[in-house]
Amino acid sequence: MKVGVFDSGVGGITVLSSLLKKFPGIDYVYLGDTANVPYGSKSPRQIGQLATACAKTMKERGVDVLVVACNTASSWALDSIREVMGETPVYGVVEPGIEAVKAALSEISLDSPQSEEILPVMVLATKATVSSQAYGGVLRRTLDEEKYPVLEQACPLLVPMIEEGWIDHPILKETIDFYVKDFRAEYRRGVALLGCTHYPWIQGAIEAALPGWRVVNSAQAIATALERFFIPATQPFILKAPEVEWIFTDPEAVPEFARKLVQERVL
Ligand code: DGL
Repeated sequence: MKVGVFDSGVGGITVLSSLLKKFPGIDYVYLGDTANVPYGSKSPRQIGQLATACAKTMKERGVDVLVVACNTASSWALDSIREVMGETPVYGVVEPGIEAVKAALSEISLDSPQSEEILPVMVLATKATVSSQAYGGVLRRTLDEEKYPVLEQACPLLVPMIEEGWIDHPILKETIDFYVKDFRAEYRRGVALLGCTHYPWIQGAIEAALPGWRVVNSAQAIATALERFFIPATQPFILKAPEVEWIFTDPEAVPEFARKLVQERVL
């Protein structure tokens, strides 16, 4: 089985890494559209065009399943990607992200069932993902808004910094602080969803900016969601080492930290 994993850049590597840990016996094709990152500040039309071009590449590679490891493309372009892929199953990261939020909320509520405490859900994502309402719309429709208010914060500066390799830079930490400080001042705790697959690269910095909050990410959530589809093909006794084919539309633009992980195969 060959699984395609695609993102605008190096964000989807966080998804690939979760998949490799859970399903080590299969082969992967990773496509990072580094020539066009970031998608999150582009128009829906542009996102659709770029995402379908990537889907065509994946189709040519003959993948059996496509994981759209990009929240922005999952929010705006899943239908057009599915059209290109035909019979090949396509999974996005938004639904699993929503499930991860709900699982975290019920765990917290189980710990203190009688509590009247308001538990906000903060969605951190790209501008395009926030404006699509892919998370905000569904979460507001399905959660009790009084107890679980949904807060959304577009963080357009984070992806360019991560693609620049600034995953541990003081400016990155200041920027995260700028994006979350008002929510942190208002609520002692809550669930923060990293609604962009780039953000798990900086999860530690986001957690540090949100003490007391539970931080969940859609990269882990998609691997859990795919268990039911992949398990038959990926029993742990399969000892074959996975092959990963790497495609970057601009290989020069891959940041050093990601290049190292790819070269040293430490995912
Ligand atoms: N990693 C992507 C996401 O999950 C895209 C970020 C971007 O290209 O702006 O939204």
